[in-house]
Amino acid sequence: QAGLLYFGAATDTPHQRERAPYPESYAQYDAILNDPSEFGQTTPTNGQKWLFVEPQSRLFNFTEGDYVADLAQNTNKLLRCHALVWHSQLAPWVETTEWTPETLTGAITRHIRAVAGYYRGRCYAWDVVNEALDEDGTYRKSVFYEVLGEEYLKLAFRVAAEVDPDAKLYYNDYGIERPDSVKTAGAVRLVTMLKDAGVRIDGVGMQAHLHADNHPTAEELIATSEGYGALVDEVAFTELDVRIKMPANETKLEWQKECYQKVVTACVKVKACVGITLWDFYDPFSWVPDVFEGQGASLVWFEDFSKHPAYDGMVQTFKKL
Ligand code: G3I
Repeated sequence: QAGLLYFGAATDTPHQRERAPYPESYAQYDAILNDPSEFGQTTPTNGQKWLFVEPQSRLFNFTEGDYVADLAQNTNKLLRCHALVWHSQLAPWVETTEWTPETLTGAITRHIRAVAGYYRGRCYAWDVVNEALDEDGTYRKSVFYEVLGEEYLKLAFRVAAEVDPDAKLYYNDYGIERPDSVKTAGAVRLVTMLKDAGVRIDGVGMQAHLHADNHPTAEELIATSEGYGALVDEVAFTELDVRIKMPANETKLEWQKECYQKVVTACVKVKACVGITLWDFYDPFSWVPDVFEGQGASLVWFEDFSKHPAYDGMVQTFKKL
């Protein structure tokens, strides 16, 4: 883990994993998750999202989020917290309420105070706003944007900074890993807008949901990371996985290994890069096949708990750098 603060993997609460048809493997899965020599950091893939923590207005439930927060504490892992304001997995009441700017400001403020307040002191970082951009780099037309415009971004970061002054506050998105993409330019604009408004933002999270057969080079990842690093204190690869068009074969697994290695190289070489988080580590628990039919094998342990070549590949890269 040369030069990095952490190398980690996200995880879900056990009952959420039930859609993966391998409950008998939980013991093996948990053994890897609990082994301090594997991962030094974790993130709840779902448990802290609005849908789970405030399913009804002012009704808070931290059961799901606590599972992973407690696991982090008990296994001595850093905890990245995810995500305070996101248009997806939003509680239905947020989308159906007829908001005015004032009432929505109140709801966002209450939500962040309650959630970031509850976890105060336990989160190394918070993804304060997640995926505010469309593919073309303009703002996504979420309920938050429709009612408040870009003010909702400033609001979210301001409230988070008040509530948990020690957590690093991140903007987190996918498709912002390449230096020349319009969405990366959008992320740079968004961060600059917050800074110009005098709002504290500490980090940019590149989710890095990548493709084995068409992935960025290490140089591209370095250039992008350095671009964000010129604006904020830190950057991180927050949801790394590398999907394969199934069936997987040796060639595709080799491409995948190279992609994982490039991310490691980039993070080690960029001073601002604090760490890498895999978006889970066991293929059957990956979100990829649910969303992209015919794609998968995106993590580093296969269904039978043998390791992808990417595992040793990353170890080798860490040793070399
Ligand atoms: O809550 C139900 C549960 O009651 C039921 O038992 C279970 C089985 O059917 O389904 C559960 O809902 C699923 C939920 O995850 C919790 O497991 C949803 O169907 C499923 O769509 C949802 O997917 C999550 C996805 O975000 C939603 O957009 C993935 O697990 C999660 O990995 C994924 O993570 C996102 C990041 O937060 C943001 N970046 C992209 C990334 C991948 O989509």
